[in-house]
Amino acid sequence: MVLTASKQSELDKLKASIVTDNICPDLAKSATNLVFGDGSPDADIMFIGEAPGKNEDEQGLPFVGAAGQFLNDMLAGINLKRAQVYITNIVKYRPPNNRDPLPDEKLSFLPYLTRQLEIIKPLLVVTLGRHSMECFLPGQQISKIHGQPKRLQGQVYLPLFHPAAALYNGGMRQTLIDDFNTIPEILRLIRNEKR
Ligand code: URA
Repeated sequence: MVLTASKQSELDKLKASIVTDNICPDLAKSATNLVFGDGSPDADIMFIGEAPGKNEDEQGLPFVGAAGQFLNDMLAGINLKRAQVYITNIVKYRPPNNRDPLPDEKLSFLPYLTRQLEIIKPLLVVTLGRHSMECFLPGQQISKIHGQPKRLQGQVYLPLFHPAAALYNGGMRQTLIDDFNTIPEILRLIRNEKR
């Protein structure tokens, strides 16, 4: 087992390498902060969003704006705090004016996201939104597979709607909450398999 301290130092090294490798220099130039991740390196659940927005860029932390508050509320609904999970994005710099991340930006950051997963080794990866789902479950439609756990090469993924998209859309909001509330049962099943 990799201890938390060494997991944290591996994550710190990985974060530094994004800067030294000069990943997406244009995004880096326009961004205030590199938004690498937040939470426990020992988390059983890793949430992966799209890219930082304005608040995230200012604070250097993922999901701290309105969508983040909604995520915190849903976590509280299943008795979890942010500090117990790990939260990150595919793209680690804010795209200007919150535009969608470009395919080559997502590709450039993918090796770093993959390494984050290798270090943290979560039992469950929860993808938030279409972009994040497509990284791991390409060719799928989020409207069809949201809330359905999928296993790929030994890793379980749960694709969910993005909290920012669901925030002001009553139907989607409730669907996201309902899907989110299945997380404890999915985790229980994964843990049981490992025993
Ligand atoms: N939306 C995302 O996808 N990520 C964040 O960190 C904030 C909003």
